[in-house]
Amino acid sequence: MFLIVDKKLKDFRKNIVGIDQKVPILNSKTARYINFDNAASTPPLASVVKAMMEFLPWYSGVHRGTGYKTLASSWVYDDCHQVIGSFVKADLDKNTVIILKNTTEAINKLSYRLNLKSNDVVVSTLMEHHSNDLPWRRQAIVKYAGVDDNGFLDVNDVKRILKQNYPRVRLLAVCGASNVTGHLNDIHTLAELAHEFKARILVDGAQLIPHCPVDMKADNDPRHIDYLAFSGHKIYAPFGTGVLIGPKETFLNSQPEYVGGGTVSVVTPRQVFWGGLPDREEAGSPNVIGAMVLSQTIKYLQSVGMEKLCAYEQELGNYAVEKIKSIPGIKVYGSLPRVGVISFNIEGIPHQLVGAILCYEAGIGVRTGCFCAQSYVRRLLGEDRNEEQIAFYSAEEINNLPGMVRISLAAYNTRAEIDTVVQWLQTIANNRSRFHRKYRFSSREGSYLPYGLEKNSFAQIPAFTANGR
Ligand code: ALA
Repeated sequence: MFLIVDKKLKDFRKNIVGIDQKVPILNSKTARYINFDNAASTPPLASVVKAMMEFLPWYSGVHRGTGYKTLASSWVYDDCHQVIGSFVKADLDKNTVIILKNTTEAINKLSYRLNLKSNDVVVSTLMEHHSNDLPWRRQAIVKYAGVDDNGFLDVNDVKRILKQNYPRVRLLAVCGASNVTGHLNDIHTLAELAHEFKARILVDGAQLIPHCPVDMKADNDPRHIDYLAFSGHKIYAPFGTGVLIGPKETFLNSQPEYVGGGTVSVVTPRQVFWGGLPDREEAGSPNVIGAMVLSQTIKYLQSVGMEKLCAYEQELGNYAVEKIKSIPGIKVYGSLPRVGVISFNIEGIPHQLVGAILCYEAGIGVRTGCFCAQSYVRRLLGEDRNEEQIAFYSAEEINNLPGMVRISLAAYNTRAEIDTVVQWLQTIANNRSRFHRKYRFSSREGSYLPYGLEKNSFAQIPAFTANGR
């Protein structure tokens, strides 16, 4: 298999903070950390952290003060909205970019700002992260479109639900890519479908935006994405920002759900005149540094080229899937097309134990469990317990739910890193009983620990913990 070799991609890897970080493993050894948990959070970029340090002497609160630093910080902060919106080709005359904390907060905000009535319908899907499911349950009737046995969204089911519930469907809330299988949804076809039934579409872009170029399209295009949410910490900007983009009219029609400083133009004891957008939706002092880092990161990614990053990740992901699948006793869930999110199980060995072995023996970071997408994971695992049976899970079961092991890639990962994890998976599959004897499940920690592990002797970052400086 040919693997893209490109100078910009090589420099990209060098630009990752902590790329050579060593971590402790068992027997007082260390290993260079391999991060395969990028779907949770990606590390920041060194050049952007440097830019942040250069900006910090200019930093001040924004919009309220009169000094030069306030002016400078306000220019930078306001400009970030433009950079972020242009990155996904939002029409910024008609849409607003709201900078928040993360995707979860963005979707929660939208769930309040749509002013849904209790008999309105939101169409969600069985493959959603809890953050694109639970907020809707509080506001409307949620109908879930199903998935097939491979975990692909059943688009006919989406259509059926839209049709059956017309005209009560206000929104189709769907992920751009799954955080479990990495499956990509055809968001523009889904947008067209939603619009056909006079509904709007929200794309949860948390797992899509970091991996693929996205074009929200012109507002009058039937394939246009109405609302888009994503997180900075999944796109190399882990400084506490998330984004919600949507039509200005959505947010001008009623009061913001969070009110307070920065949201108003005039306040009297009896009246409030709300400020303009996006300020009225960004209550309190905003995260100027987080926004600045996200916008600088976006500019860097654009200079490398999102298409290039996407193609490289696709190739790396395909390589990883083929290798992992070739290990006897491993089941990989889902199939192509996908972003580099690969979930699997090794027969006869619990998912948490695999994660623990990779951590304690190899210095490799993955995620195990249900990935905040329990309905989807249960479906993929073929779990047939019904709602009532699930309500009677024992405490032990709740601590130890069925799940999967997940490897999630980013554009700085390499084929050599894949080879290392694949070798370890092979070792685990070949030595199940040895590893079962070596580790115990700790209900308190909710994870497996090697027998005899002294947490304190293993911990090497006391300076940053509660007992540190
Ligand atoms: N949603 C993030 C994940 O899938 C946290 O890991």
